[in-house]
Amino acid sequence: MSARPPVIRVEDLNVWFDLPGGGELHAVQGVTFELRAGARMGLVGESGCGKTTTILAMMGLLPATASVSGKVLLDGEDILVGGEETISPHRWSDISMVFQGAMNAFNPVRTIGAQIAEPMVLHGMATGKSARSRVAELLELVGIAGDRANRYPHEFSGGMRQRAAIAMALACSPKVLLADEPTTALDVMVQAQILELLVSLSTTLGQELGLTVILVTHDLPVVAQVCDRAAVMYAGEIVEMGGMSEIYHDPRHPYSRMLFAATPDLLGDDEVLSIPGAPPRLDREIVGCPFRPRCDSAFEPCSTVRPGRREPVAGHEARCHLNDPSLTELPS
Ligand SMILES: Nc1ncnc2c1ncn2[C@@H]1O[C@H](COP(=O)(O)OP(=O)(O)O)[C@@H](O)[C@H]1O
Ligand SMILES: [Mg+2]
Repeated sequence: MSARPPVIRVEDLNVWFDLPGGGELHAVQGVTFELRAGARMGLVGESGCGKTTTILAMMGLLPATASVSGKVLLDGEDILVGGEETISPHRWSDISMVFQGAMNAFNPVRTIGAQIAEPMVLHGMATGKSARSRVAELLELVGIAGDRANRYPHEFSGGMRQRAAIAMALACSPKVLLADEPTTALDVMVQAQILELLVSLSTTLGQELGLTVILVTHDLPVVAQVCDRAAVMYAGEIVEMGGMSEIYHDPRHPYSRMLFAATPDLLGDDEVLSIPGAPPRLDREIVGCPFRPRCDSAFEPCSTVRPGRREPVAGHEARCHLNDPSLTELPS
C-alpha cells in the first residue's frame, strides 16, 4: 500500500486578534496537522478553544483584526503565503466550508437552487442550464429531490436546509470540506442523518474526488461515531491527536479523557460539559499547562513548564507531561 501524500497540511498555525481596548488574544497556538484524501477528522473541544478560528484561517476568512502566521498547504502548495491572491483561487473550489449556523443563513427571498449555484458562478464553473443541472445533482447527492431547487428556504425543514448548505459547499467539487458544528441545533434523528451523509460523502466521493472532511464540534461522542481521526483542542492548542479509536481507548491527555467522560448537563445546554472550571483566558500569557487548574492528574512541572508536543505512541500525540518518562519515572 503506497502512502498517499497529505491533501492538506497545516503547519504551526497561529492566530492573534487585536482587541478593541488594546492588547491581543492568541486564539490559535501552533496548530499542526495533516490529512490524507478521504480522511475524516474531528476537531473537538469546548467553546472558545479555537476551532472556528482555525478553520476560518484555513479558508482565509478571518476579519481584518486577525494576524496569522504559519502555513496551510493544499497538495503541497502554501495557499496562505500570498494572502487573498493565493487563497481565492482555491476557496470553495478546492477547500470549502459549511459555516456554523449555515442552515439559518440562506437568503429568505432567493431560491435554494440559486444560492447553491453561487460558488459555481463565482468560479466560472457553470452558468444557466449547466448550473441548474449541477444543482439538481448536488441536491440528489445530499438526499433532496432535485426538483426542489426552485423552492425557498422557508419551504425546507432545518435538516433539509443543513443538507442544502452542505450541497452548496460541495458545488465546486472541493478536495477538503470543513464543517463547523453542522449538527448543532438539529434534533437527534436529523443529526444522525446529517452525520451519515458526511460519512457517505467522504467514502463515496473519497474514491473519485478525494473528499477529506474536518468535522468541528464540541461533541466528542459525535466525532467518535463519524471520524477516523480526532484532534482535541484546548486553549488554542491541539492537545491530543491521533486515530479515533486510539484516542477513545487510550487517551493520553486528561482533558480528552474527561471530555469522553463528560455528560451534557441536565438543563439540556449541551455546550456545558461537566468538567469543573473553565478554560483559561487567551488574552494573557499562560504559564505552565493551560489545563492544569482543571486537571485531576496534575503534578509538579505542570504549574511551571508548558508541555510540548510528544508522541507517546507512533501517530498519537499529546501535549501533557504525563507522557514524558523523564518527569514521571522515579529515579531508581
Ligand atoms: N473576531 C474576534 N475577535 C476577538 N476574539 C475572537 C474573535 N473570534 C474569536 N475570538 C476569540 O478567540 C477564541 C477562539 O474562538 P473560536 O475559534 O470561536 O472558538 P470555538 O470555535 O472553539 O468555540 C475565543 O477566546 C474567542 O473569544
Ligand atoms: Mg466555533
